[in-house]
Amino acid sequence: MRLLGPFSEKKLGPDSAGAGEGRFEAQGKGLFITLKGISKSYAAVSALAELDLAIPPGSIFGIIGKSGAGKSTLLRIMSLLESPDRGEVYYGGERVDTLRGAALRERQRKMGMIFQNFNLMSSRNVSGNISYPLEIGGMHKRRIQERVEELLELVDIRDKRKARLRELSGGQKQRVAIARALAASPEILFCDEATSALDPMTTRSILSLIQGLREKLRITVVLITHQMEVIRAICEEVAVLYEGRLAERGTVEEVFANPRSAAARELLTGRGGSAGGIND
Ligand SMILES: Nc1ncnc2c1ncn2[C@@H]1O[C@H](COP(=O)(O)OP(=O)(O)OP(=O)(O)O)[C@@H](O)[C@H]1O
Ligand SMILES: [Mg+2]
Repeated sequence: MRLLGPFSEKKLGPDSAGAGEGRFEAQGKGLFITLKGISKSYAAVSALAELDLAIPPGSIFGIIGKSGAGKSTLLRIMSLLESPDRGEVYYGGERVDTLRGAALRERQRKMGMIFQNFNLMSSRNVSGNISYPLEIGGMHKRRIQERVEELLELVDIRDKRKARLRELSGGQKQRVAIARALAASPEILFCDEATSALDPMTTRSILSLIQGLREKLRITVVLITHQMEVIRAICEEVAVLYEGRLAERGTVEEVFANPRSAAARELLTGRGGSAGGIND
């Protein structure tokens, strides 16, 4: 059973089983994210190897794998925080992994990120955290105040606008982090284990918030997690990583009903396959 049944049922149209690239075009204002032949090593550790992946605009795309599979590395490369050793990253038709300086910063302003540990600034209150990227971006003070109010409303924490971070629950902190991530109206929201520190009920409320935001703002959401129930709750498609390689990719329905890789089966059942992950 799905964690968020009512939210999940309307996610996909009748043609959702196919892998056609046009499927999500009507939903998203964003761009196709395409990764080609991505490899990344840290000293002797191969974190990613020859990875190809395409993420449709407007989708909620899940990336799952065991600890150390390369999920965060992939997210850092996809979000242009890190460069691959080999391979290419495209947003739409534009190659973006080679961007530097002002062009890179401009691109990065169009994406938001949230993390397991929230990465908020304890020296600032709730509004101050949300306004930070707008201040950096040089927005007029008056407009920042208006935008912060819009964002507080969007994530439903208006009554906490003046609160210190230590006065907030984990779920409320993640709402602040989401508001901050969305401040500059990004096209893509990257989530790295965004619900892993939260209890199941708070996880559900944050996932339904993310799902609602995707529908309202027409953004692309890339969500990495080691929790199968998170993928099942809100993702449309999922990529399974195993030791830095793509073990499997498909719709959530396909992968849950009929996992083809040992890595996916292991994540679903908690039991590994004898071939070690990628192969049957
Ligand atoms: N900056 C780094 N320096 C050295 N090794 C790194 C670095 N970042 C990642 N690695 C290594 O690359 C591999 C993949 O790490 P990554 O953080 O991408 O995994 P993950 O799937 O996000 O794991 P987790 O679920 O535990 O967060 C691991 O073996 C890790 O030790
Ligand atoms: Mg990680």
